[in-house]
Parts: sequence; structure tokens; C-alpha cells
Amino acid sequence: MSSEPLNPGPVTVASSSRAPGAATIHLTVNGRAHELAVEPRRLLVEVIRDDLDLTGTKVGCDTSQCGACTVLVDGRAVKSCTLLAVQADGSEIRTVESLAPDRETLHPLQQAFVEHHGLQCGFCTPGMLMTALDLLERDPDPSDETIKLALDGNLCRCTGYQPIIESIRAAAEAIRDADRPA
Ligand code: FES
Ligand code: FES
Repeated sequence: MSSEPLNPGPVTVASSSRAPGAATIHLTVNGRAHELAVEPRRLLVEVIRDDLDLTGTKVGCDTSQCGACTVLVDGRAVKSCTLLAVQADGSEIRTVESLAPDRETLHPLQQAFVEHHGLQCGFCTPGMLMTALDLLERDPDPSDETIKLALDGNLCRCTGYQPIIESIRAAAEAIRDADRPA
């Protein structure tokens, strides 16, 4: 298996096609700088998936209900179907593709979801992971109640939520352990 890093350093990628009326925007996505020509009507999730080929971010509803499209915008979890791409101009975006440090190593959240059965079909999982990442970056030791509140905007049709809560709790513990001085 290749050990090529998943998140190579910054590079500027200019959009090749320019639709009439398109606006030029700048996004930094998973550490890469992009200059893109986008029609003002297009959603951030469309640009992430269709222009940047980052298809880990899912579209479950397009109406701000399910949270499958959640990414971090300037460090906060945002449903990327609720934002026009032009509204995100100048922002730093993190998608689920940024989580694993390389192709052999999972992020502690991903590892915990695997170990604690936090996913079944996996469709909601990218959004769950990014919402959980936002939570753990603000609160390294959240209570179950806090986890439930954070997940309020993320729907899962498979797991019944309890394994997701257990996964996030386990990931929080693993991250705290890793950060503890030896
Ligand atoms: S696709 Fe964005 S909330 Fe469902
Ligand atoms: S694992 Fe299937 S929707 Fe959540």
C-alpha cells in the first residue's frame, strides 16, 4: 500500500471552466489553496464534491436536515449544503478526507467508530466525524449529554446513536491519553 500522505502541502488549483456570471473565490481545503470560478447559486457542498472531487462529504437531504454534508469552516462544524460557495470565500475548510494522517493510520475518531460500531452503512459517518471533531477540539472530555447536544443536527438511520456516542467518548479518551505527557 502507498504511504503517500493524504494531505500534501499547499498548492493552488485554478478552476479550468468558467461559466458565465461565475465569481472567483479562494478556498483553502484540507491545507490546499484553491482558486475557483463558481456560479453564485452553487452550494459549498457541490463545489467540494464536484469541483474538488472530495466525495467523502455526503448529501443526504440538501435541506439542512441530516448533517451528512458537515465540514469544518474556519474550525466550526457547518452543514455545507446550507452555505453558498461564494459565502465561504476566503475560508479554511476541512473535510473528512483530512482526518487520517496517512493511508495506514486512522484518526482516533475513525478508529473509535470502527471499534465501537459507530457506523453501519456509513452514509452519515463523514458528517458525524466532522461534528465530533469540532466538539472534541472545543471540549476534550464531553459528557454524554454534551455529545448528544452536539449531534443534534446529524441523523443516522442505522445505529440507534448509542454506539456513536460511545465511539466519540472513546475517541475523546484516546486523544487525551495521547496528549498526556509521558
Ligand atoms: S445534505 Fe446537508 S444537511 Fe443533509
Ligand atoms: S450508519 Fe447508516 S445512516 Fe448512520
